[in-house]
Amino acid sequence: MLPRRDARIWIIGASAGIGAALARALAAEGARLVLSARDAQALEALAQDCPGARALPLDLARPGALAEAVADLAASFDAVICTAALYEPGPVAELDPAQAELLVRVNLLGTLEVARLCPPLLRPGGQLVLFGSVAGYFGLPGGQAYSATKAAVNNLAETLRVELAPRVDVRLVCPGFVRTRLTARNRFRMPGLITPEEAARHTLRGLRGRQFEIHFPKRLTLAMKLLRLLPYALSLRLTARLLR
Ligand SMILES: NC(=O)c1ccc[n+]([C@@H]2O[C@H](COP(=O)([O-])OP(=O)(O)OC[C@H]3O[C@@H](n4cnc5c(N)ncnc54)[C@H](OP(=O)(O)O)[C@@H]3O)[C@@H](O)[C@H]2O)c1
Repeated sequence: MLPRRDARIWIIGASAGIGAALARALAAEGARLVLSARDAQALEALAQDCPGARALPLDLARPGALAEAVADLAASFDAVICTAALYEPGPVAELDPAQAELLVRVNLLGTLEVARLCPPLLRPGGQLVLFGSVAGYFGLPGGQAYSATKAAVNNLAETLRVELAPRVDVRLVCPGFVRTRLTARNRFRMPGLITPEEAARHTLRGLRGRQFEIHFPKRLTLAMKLLRLLPYALSLRLTARLLR
């Protein structure tokens, strides 16, 4: 379980959104942070607000970048949290193949690299925290290739939870809609929209509990879980309504 004070935590995807909100909340509790993402300036600015934090810029899409960063860090982290992801909404017929490839590289292959290389950095019982999404519960119109990568991350976390136990405490975080630059591109009403600060609070509360999956807000995530349980004849009729 995540200790409150003096925790040593690496956040990959810290420069914006939920990752930045997590960094501020953890720093306020006295955590010692390493902050990673591509935007070095944003990381430096955030590090100024987080006493003792170190900015370690990193592009998950660049082969070898994560291995170099891992080699630069001493072991014994309490948690490695990966929130890094890209989002590109739209129908499959309009996908830009290069953009889709980059998205798969960051969201899926990047997370796989985190899962492969980061566990040795953790103290025994330390947490590996992966950000999936409710978007990975069920394929919705307009959500690809993002939803496919998030379904894969949800699935990956289930595998890791068993493969790495008990040395590593693997957790999966599945937010609903959070107001960040990622969702700023959505052109529809987002039910249950919350702030990044609220998302950070839900996440940290979950990490201090024992549940494998941390999902919020429940009014949205439980409805999405129900959709997954319905027969396709019914669930696909419901999701088709989203096109209207
Ligand atoms: N917002 C939501 O409604 C929502 C819902 C469900 C799940 N989620 C998940 O929650 C996580 C955080 O999302 P968010 O809304 O906070 O998104 P965000 O504001 O866009 O932040 C994403 C973070 O990922 C980093 N990143 C992107 N590409 C990267 C790369 N190639 N290498 C390293 N870092 C990279 C970004 O920093 P740089 O640009 O500086 O690299 C940024 O710090 C994501 O995994 C997302 O899928 C979000």
